[in-house]
Amino acid sequence: MSERVLVGQQTDLPEGSQVAVLVGGVSVVVVNFEGQYYALRNNCTHKDYPLLGGEVSAGRITCEKHGAKFELSTGKAKTLPAVKPVRLYRTELEDGQVYVAPLESA
Ligand code: FES
Repeated sequence: MSERVLVGQQTDLPEGSQVAVLVGGVSVVVVNFEGQYYALRNNCTHKDYPLLGGEVSAGRITCEKHGAKFELSTGKAKTLPAVKPVRLYRTELEDGQVYVAPLESA
C-alpha cells in the first residue's frame, strides 16, 4: 500500500482553494477546481519554483514565476517556458476528508 496523506476536511477546501501538503517528503499542491480535487507536485518543471498560489483557470495552474501553465488533470506543460510535465498525484475522498497519494505504488 502506498502512503496516503490527509489534506483536510472537504469543507475546509472549497472551490478555488489551494493547499500544499507533504507526500513522502515531497511538497504537493492540492487544488479544488470546479468541485474536483487535483494534486500535482508543487514544483514548476521550468525552474525550481512552487506552483502553490498560482492562478487557476480553464483547468490549468499558472506558475507565477514565468507564466508556464500546467494541466491539472494530466500535469502536462501547456505553455512555455515549461516543457516537461509535473508529476501527478491521486486524490481520494472518504467520509468528507480529502487525501492525496502517489499515483504509482512504490
Ligand atoms: S519557474 Fe515556472 S515558468 Fe519559470
